[in-house]
Amino acid sequence: MSKKINGFSKLTKGEKINWLANNFFSDKEQGINALKSYWNANEKLQQLHDDFIENTLSNFYIPYAVAPNFIINGKDYVIPMAIEESSVVAAAALVAKFWSTRGGFKTTVISTTKIGQVHFMFTGNEEELKTYFNQIKSELFEVTNNITKNMRKRGGGILDIELRNKTTDLKDYYQLHVTFETKDSMGANFINTCLEAIANRFENTNELDIQIVMSILSNYVPECLVRAEVSCKVDELYKSDADLYANKFINALNIANAEPHRAVTHNKGIMNGIDAVVLATGNDFRAVEAGVHAYAARTGKYKSLSGAKIEDAIFSFWLEIPLALGTVGGLTKLHPLAKLSLEILQQPSAKELMEIVAVVGLAQNFAALRALTTTGIQSGHMKMHLGNIIKQLTTDEKEVAYLLDHFKNRPVSHSDVTEVFKKMKLN
Ligand code: MEV
Repeated sequence: MSKKINGFSKLTKGEKINWLANNFFSDKEQGINALKSYWNANEKLQQLHDDFIENTLSNFYIPYAVAPNFIINGKDYVIPMAIEESSVVAAAALVAKFWSTRGGFKTTVISTTKIGQVHFMFTGNEEELKTYFNQIKSELFEVTNNITKNMRKRGGGILDIELRNKTTDLKDYYQLHVTFETKDSMGANFINTCLEAIANRFENTNELDIQIVMSILSNYVPECLVRAEVSCKVDELYKSDADLYANKFINALNIANAEPHRAVTHNKGIMNGIDAVVLATGNDFRAVEAGVHAYAARTGKYKSLSGAKIEDAIFSFWLEIPLALGTVGGLTKLHPLAKLSLEILQQPSAKELMEIVAVVGLAQNFAALRALTTTGIQSGHMKMHLGNIIKQLTTDEKEVAYLLDHFKNRPVSHSDVTEVFKKMKLN
């Protein structure tokens, strides 16, 4: 039977759900109830979510939590995180407390420039193209005057427009490489609107055969860069064998720089923290992910985003990443929980948010490397996961308590928990 449908988006929410149920659900009633059980009783709030995207049927929850006790540049923060992975928030909270007694986290925003490009093909004489660009450059700024007016009032706007010859990478390919300062907004819509206005004016010439292919911001923002770091005496890092473990920690970083398979997992751990805060504050985590990984590969080899060293018995650990974030515009004020996250963070500027997000990435990396190079990751992780495994087996309070107690001092695995559960039922 064909599962194709025309005009799906025109159906009501109920009709959409019925169509899905008829075509895909093994138990229609159960499927429909599952979707409806996640509807918000507050109709206005549900409508808000329905309108974020097309064909909304329900809401897909992930937990929203906070990690307290972060000290960043001497200021206290409680950091909201939206993530489903069991140990991430616990690790962030633990590391925050650890570093709060060792001077806290220090951060620096290195730069905030964002990038957009008008990509075009041109087969003519390059000198003529350059002359045309230089003649029209001031007009390219002028056509965006209305769009950039408010941004300029806030100290932002278009910083520069450059003509770039890319023909060694692709035949006939040139671009207008445009740099922007977007202050507290992530600026995606602003940048794209400016670029389209620039492209229209640039293409509109009778003299040269310029073919605009597309105009779009770049999510690769190596000039929108933030650094977060911590440091302490090596002796203060571990309760015992500090030299041994500190050196193992450094080697874990060296391995991530030498071996891309490890680097990807290493950086994934960093992104556990980064994505969670980016999501909780209504920012675009896909943009951040894409840009961060490109940055990790900027030398031509995919490497660690973080670094560490021991010098004069002082251990330093840092993270440098590109982050294009906003604290105004987009979902930041539209999504009630994103708005609340910014309130919990004491209404940060975009720069401050870059710092906070980088700190959580560094904290997460610290937690992972410390666990990996000492006890291993699984004991802590599986302890956190134990609750999830148990929930799949039983919700009976006595049974849950029995299983939790049984695995208090034993290694946890899905099969062991299931085994013990089965035995418990037989007795
Ligand atoms: C798991 O989500 C993240 C880690 O694998 C990160 C790492 O290996 O560094 C623990």
